[in-house]
Formats: sequence, structure tokens, C-alpha cells
Amino acid sequence: MQGVSFPLRSDSQITLSSRMAEDTEKLCEGLRKENKSCFILGASGETGKELLKEIIKNRIFSKVTIIGRRKLTFEDEAYKDVIQEVVDFEKLDEYSSAFQGHDVGFCCLGTTKAKSGEAGFIRVDRDYVLKSAQLAKAGGCTHFNLESSKGANKCSSFLYLRVKGEVEAAIEQLDFDRYTIFRPAVLMCDREEYRLAERIFQKVLIPISYTFPTAFSVPLTTVVRAMVNNAVLNSDKKVEILENKAIHALGAAQEITKK
Ligand SMILES: NC(=O)c1ccc[n+]([C@@H]2O[C@H](COP(=O)([O-])OP(=O)(O)OC[C@H]3O[C@@H](n4cnc5c(N)ncnc54)[C@H](OP(=O)(O)O)[C@@H]3O)[C@@H](O)[C@H]2O)c1
Repeated sequence: MQGVSFPLRSDSQITLSSRMAEDTEKLCEGLRKENKSCFILGASGETGKELLKEIIKNRIFSKVTIIGRRKLTFEDEAYKDVIQEVVDFEKLDEYSSAFQGHDVGFCCLGTTKAKSGEAGFIRVDRDYVLKSAQLAKAGGCTHFNLESSKGANKCSSFLYLRVKGEVEAAIEQLDFDRYTIFRPAVLMCDREEYRLAERIFQKVLIPISYTFPTAFSVPLTTVVRAMVNNAVLNSDKKVEILENKAIHALGAAQEITKK
């Protein structure tokens, strides 16, 4: 079942998603029995922390490792078995053991030009991400998931979209057994850090998203559910690109189960 082929949410889409929700639970159970391990890069960020929460809630991996530049503190007992690897991203080769032995990898790493400057943005969003993917591949990872962006294009004249496209393409060359690229539009979330441009953008997009729900934005929780649902689905596709519409569809399955 390919996320990319899902249409917009019509009645038939909802039926399909309901069926998928039941199937997803069965698939979760299947994955649990396989005792697979995963790692998350960027677990301190908005997507990463929500993804970690969802993975823990669904108990689909027998071992969960978060790889980041600082140690995180969790109050909740549910996080007690999470393994933390603190690495220096400027010397990632020295931390190759952190990337050893994970079946599935999720990369939610990223910064912005406003925060890190142009060179800093390229360093994190392209170089750190690619190096991490290389180490993960060398360490035995078979399914690599990249949170990229809507409009990613290595030929784009916009730096952000070009860098996202370049890293997508470079990771494809690593030849993972399975490589999933998520291309979400603007993430609708209550971000801890204050980002003025994002706040303005989100405010403008709220009314638009009622009319065109999948065009310009996506709730963060939907992205995370799509990542988890996709990870439990079997796929014979080596490379999957999930555009914003497909993320909405795939992320909706669990939402329907809860109703
Ligand atoms: N925001 C959007 O609307 C949007 C839309 C589409 C795609 N995306 C993409 O989706 C991905 C995740 O976005 P997000 O908003 O969830 O990210 P976020 O909240 O900004 O979190 C980014 C993560 O990257 C880490 N990071 C940043 N700079 C780093 C550095 N110099 N060294 C090591 N780690 C660093 C952060 O660690 P610390 O906590 O230690 O800083 C954090 O864990 C990004 O690639 C982003 O470009 C975002």
C-alpha cells in the first residue's frame, strides 16, 4: 500500500482510512513481534518529540534510541527505556557506534536560515543529515525516513528548497532497502520556540486550511501519525515520496480509529 497514491479525503477515502486503521493495528502487532529497533534524530524538536511520543505510545519498536546534541530529561515513566546518544555533529565519524544496529531511522533534524545563517542552515539540513544517513546505512539501518519539505527540489533557486532537494537526492544514492521522504507543507503546531514568520504564516493559513485542508499546511500530529503508520506498512517500493496530500491521508487513519 503506497501513501503516495491516496486521494483527498472523500467518503471513499474515509472508508479506506477506516479499513486502514484496523489494518494498521494488525500491522503494529506484526512489527512488535519483529523486535525491531529505531533511532530518531531531532527528538528535541517539534516533530521529533511528537514522533517519539507516538512511537512509545504504540510500542512498535523494542528499542528506541534518540540521537542529539544534548541530553533530554523526561519525567514520564513511559520514556524510561529510551536510550540517549549525545553526539557532536561536527565530528560524527567519532560517534559511528551511536548509529549502529538500528533497523529504522527517522530524521527530523533541521534549523532555519534566520536562526543559524545560510552556512549554518546548509551545515545542519544537508551535511549533518547526510552524514547521519551514511552512518546509519553503514550501521545496518534498512529503512530511513527523512522529514523534508513541500517543494523540495535540488534545482530550485530558493536555498531552503534546494538544500532539501539536494539532501533527498544524496540520501537516495545510499541505496537503503527502503527510503521514505516526507514532504510536509507548513507544520501547524504550538511551537515552544518563538518564530515570528512561522506564527504569522500559521495565522494566515488557519482559515485557508478549512477550504483547502491539504494544500498549504498540515497538523504536526498528522505528520507524525503518517510516519508511524507508514513505518508499519509493508512496501515493496524502495523509494517513497509522500507529498503533503498523502501525508494527510496516511496520517488520518489513526484519527478515525479514535472517533
Ligand atoms: N516548520 C515547518 O513548518 C516545516 C515544514 C516543512 C518541513 N519542515 C522540516 O521538518 C524538519 C523538522 O522541523 P521541526 O520544525 O520539527 O524542527 P525543530 O523543532 O526546529 O527541531 C529541529 C531539531 O534539529 C536539531 N538541531 C537544530 N540545529 C542543530 C545543530 N546545529 N546541531 C544539532 N542539532 C540541531 C534541534 O536540536 P536542539 O533542540 O538541540 O536545537 C531539534 O532537535 C526540519 O528539517 C524542517 O526543515 C519544517
